[in-house]
Amino acid sequence: MPKMDYPNPKTIIEPFRVRSVEPIAMITPDKREQALREAFYNPFLLHADQVLIDLLTDSGTGALSARQWAAMISSDESYAGARSFFKLESAVKDIFGFKHFIPTHQGRAAERLLCQVALKPGDVIPNNSHFDTTRANIEFVGAQARDLVIAEGKQPELVHPFKGNMDIQALRNTIREVGPERIPFIMITITNNSGGGQPVSVSNIRAVSEVAREYGIPFIIDACRFAENSYFIHTREQGYEHKTPLEIAREIFSYADGCTMSAKKDGMANIGGFLALNHDTWAEKAKNMLILTEGFPTYGGMAGYDMEAVAVGLYEALDVNYLRYRIRSIAYLAEKLNAGGVSTVQPPGGHAVFIDARAMLPHIPDARYPGWALSNALYLAGGIRSVEIGSVMFGRKPDGTEQPAPMDLVRLAFPRRVYMQSHVDYLAEVILSVHQQRDAVPGYQIVWQPPFLRHFSARFEPC
Ligand code: F0G
Repeated sequence: MPKMDYPNPKTIIEPFRVRSVEPIAMITPDKREQALREAFYNPFLLHADQVLIDLLTDSGTGALSARQWAAMISSDESYAGARSFFKLESAVKDIFGFKHFIPTHQGRAAERLLCQVALKPGDVIPNNSHFDTTRANIEFVGAQARDLVIAEGKQPELVHPFKGNMDIQALRNTIREVGPERIPFIMITITNNSGGGQPVSVSNIRAVSEVAREYGIPFIIDACRFAENSYFIHTREQGYEHKTPLEIAREIFSYADGCTMSAKKDGMANIGGFLALNHDTWAEKAKNMLILTEGFPTYGGMAGYDMEAVAVGLYEALDVNYLRYRIRSIAYLAEKLNAGGVSTVQPPGGHAVFIDARAMLPHIPDARYPGWALSNALYLAGGIRSVEIGSVMFGRKPDGTEQPAPMDLVRLAFPRRVYMQSHVDYLAEVILSVHQQRDAVPGYQIVWQPPFLRHFSARFEPC
């Protein structure tokens, strides 16, 4: 009998099967029109059960595994010295390796603690690109946040394997210009969310670390999507193809002096975060601040079961089969859209596809918010919720004048382990249909807006 050739299927399957299901709100087109009108044409004001596929964010929206639930049910909810704290502490030390571990309720709480203990007015913090909350926490204490991503990272169409890399020359120039004494730490964000979810290479992280050590400046990593970043290194950086994402993560953090983390991303949890540091004095001060606003140092704003979910989730996020499926499902959507003529930031990032709305809707002037217009059109056409990253979010200057943002993008961020391939096929079908009828998409005007962070609550009308 001939021996069968076992196939090597190209289809990358979801590496899990479903054990508990949540119905999707199959909201009809007429109901969507009404819902969006009642939400003042602002998708942030929709109720989640008016949304068919929710890609507003990948933060805290993922599915927990059976192993996470099992750990959660046996959590220790003691106020002080809970077993669940020590379990999370040992996971964090194992993966990230820093001396001090300080739990917080989410990423921005870790940022706030770090900024309050380390910064003073007039200081400068370099980063590849600061995420909004990091920038806001730095500016809140009177310091300045500077973005030093490489030039390739600012060109949406350009393909480069590590568009999140920091410009090392610009970093050196910044240190020379302001002086190392005014730079309490240097940051790098992996992956670079504000730049399209783009990864940073190990060689770039090592180079930043060398500059930091040369000047005696601590180096802190914003680690939110560290597992996705490690997978990109595994697939794109020479010398790392045989290393596991866990080994790569350990190497990355060995070059740093600490990290801030939102466990709502690669912690695979619905809430949680931490600050991890080697610096004894900062850690001591941060723990004192923690007690003031977050909680006792052995829970810091998380329930025992949250700490259990994160302790298991950090390892699940590093599973190579999970990462292959995750990164592939995002690339799969981008490829389908590109094949139908829709331009997206290239290459697709680790957690989201970013559509270039200005390119798709050239008939809508910047002042009529093409990104916002596309986001609303996707909701009306298929119940898809996305987020505009463009002139509504960034276009109003502190003096109240309007200036279009450099790009009008629509971000489709994927919750972890939530949607399957047929959902992605549906997304592609709806988006391509909107693209084909793009002349019928109206622009928008703002009819009411709050003084700050207007995108969350502003009211709009089509025009
Ligand atoms: N840093 C990065 C790179 C982030 O993407 C986020 C959150 C944070 C820090 C703050 O963490 O939300 O736990 O306080 N990003 C979410 C998003 C909100 O939709 O991109 P948090």
